[in-house]
Amino acid sequence: MRQDTHVIDHPLVQHKLSVARNRDTTTDNFRRLVREIAAMLAYEATRDLPVEHADIHTPITTCRVPVISGKKLCLVSILRAGNGMLDGMIDLLPNARVGHIGLYRDPETLEAVEYYFKVPDDIAERMVIVVDPMLATGNTALAALSRLKEAGATSLKYVCLLASPEGLAALHGAYPDVVVVTAAIDRCLDEHGYIVPGLGDAGDRIFGTL
Ligand code: URA
Repeated sequence: MRQDTHVIDHPLVQHKLSVARNRDTTTDNFRRLVREIAAMLAYEATRDLPVEHADIHTPITTCRVPVISGKKLCLVSILRAGNGMLDGMIDLLPNARVGHIGLYRDPETLEAVEYYFKVPDDIAERMVIVVDPMLATGNTALAALSRLKEAGATSLKYVCLLASPEGLAALHGAYPDVVVVTAAIDRCLDEHGYIVPGLGDAGDRIFGTL
């Protein structure tokens, strides 16, 4: 089974991520950067969507053109930081359904605790793109993927701004079929489970709750 991580090394993504990492970046700029990076990650995450061909009339003539072949999408945001990535993705994927999973990290154990779960009934028929800016310990990601599989999801991708080597190992170990799309893989985790060098607490920086 493949264990894929796609690091998007496009200069625009890398530049915007560097600005977002800076602790002096203001909340409004941070929020906008997360939205813009998310849109570019969505572009990459949907690169393998199947296309079919349709006949159309241009103002000049008729021609056969590629169109996305009805593959249904579902974005799933891990609350709350995942919501910061949603708008950028929806700009690009306006027909996607959106699910939410509420998970918080127990500060003592760093384990994920679920408090909310709502996804479309037909999730089994959709390509599911899970969004959360930080893949840190991987505990939250594993809990989210486990719940989505339990709900019937079979086609899953995981999109984040930053991943730690520890989080990637945990995710690929448990779910080798899940492709990860990220803007960077950072050095390590600190003793509190934060990504180093990272960008701090993504939720707090998006929502200005520092
Ligand atoms: N969650 C965050 O917001 N930041 C980290 O570095 C790790 C988890």
